[in-house]
Amino acid sequence: AIIPCILSGGAGSRLWPLSRQTMPKQFLRIFGGESLFQKTVERVSGEAFSAPLVIANEAHRFMAGEQLGEAGVEPRAIVLEPFGRNTAAPAALAALVASEVAKDALVVLLPSDHLIRDTDAFLKAVETARPAAEAGRIVTFGITPDRAHTGYGYIRLGAGAGGVFDVAAFVEKPDEARAGAFLASGDHVWNSGIFLFSARTMLHAFGEHAPGVLEAVCKAYESGRVDLDFLRLDADAFAKADNISIDYAIMERAGNIACVPMDPQWSDLGAWSAVWEILDKDDAGNSALGEALFVDASDNLVVSDDAVVAMLGLKDVMVVSTKDAVLVAAKDKAEDVKAIVQRLDSDK
Ligand code: GDD
Ligand code: MG
Repeated sequence: AIIPCILSGGAGSRLWPLSRQTMPKQFLRIFGGESLFQKTVERVSGEAFSAPLVIANEAHRFMAGEQLGEAGVEPRAIVLEPFGRNTAAPAALAALVASEVAKDALVVLLPSDHLIRDTDAFLKAVETARPAAEAGRIVTFGITPDRAHTGYGYIRLGAGAGGVFDVAAFVEKPDEARAGAFLASGDHVWNSGIFLFSARTMLHAFGEHAPGVLEAVCKAYESGRVDLDFLRLDADAFAKADNISIDYAIMERAGNIACVPMDPQWSDLGAWSAVWEILDKDDAGNSALGEALFVDASDNLVVSDDAVVAMLGLKDVMVVSTKDAVLVAAKDKAEDVKAIVQRLDSDK
């Protein structure tokens, strides 16, 4: 069975003020019911998968444990990072833990902050990718781009057979000009950030392209300690891992990469504009989570915990209202909400 490894250590600061240090976006029940983390775990709870490995920040250990319990999922382990080091380190850790199960164990590495509405399409793509992963390739799952988004990785597809394509090039987060060119080329897909690989293949890739990260993670794991249901990585050792994403550390550098394009109605709820995009809208393009009133207003987003938010004469504005903080922002500045959080942190 494939071992799911859930990356759950991100801060999600672009979804401030709903997403906070104490409650990052993957754990938010933003669409009522279940959090994105829970949806992710449940997506990979079928027969093809074994118990998941969850890699989270130590600050969120009880939330992760509680949400797993609520979803009825017994994890293989919950590994705790003392601080975030981006995704290369936890990817190496996933391969390391899986290799203890079997050298060739398959791992599906999953971000926990995506919405995937067509689970069957996703599971089919995983099945399509499996033989390539077994044959020693790192498989990414591609999404057909619809705009020149600069927050994604871009994959140039080479030759393909049976739904599996060679990867001619992988470029992480290109600037606007390059993203535009990739979109226009018609032969690029976005990296969904989901990867399928064998433990052996990924350990080998780290040995070749990011040996320092692998070494730091091995040490942090070996000197880690068990605390209740959790495994805490050793902070001193983990601090030596570069702060780099798997996309830069491995995907841009490795040669044995394949891509399976898929269309599972995927969206990365990275920023408020993405939330606006997926919500139902009124005739004027306004959408709301919580109580809102729109008069002579179009293409706005309201997210409100409690207060009724009324908008008059506005277009492309986002209001996110919580008990102790309110965001009012232009929709095309959604990516820059991060800067507000940085400001607030540095003013502390
Ligand atoms: N455990 C752990 N530790 N998880 C982390 C950390 C960390 O330090 N940092 C981020 N994560 C988790 C996040 O919670 C998220 O679930 C996932 O790893 C991806 O991190 P993001 O920070 O959201 O990455 P991104 O969106 O900028 O870019 C990635 O995803 C895009 C698609 O959504 C890349 O893979 C891009 O190439 C890709 O297009
Ligand atoms: Mg993301």
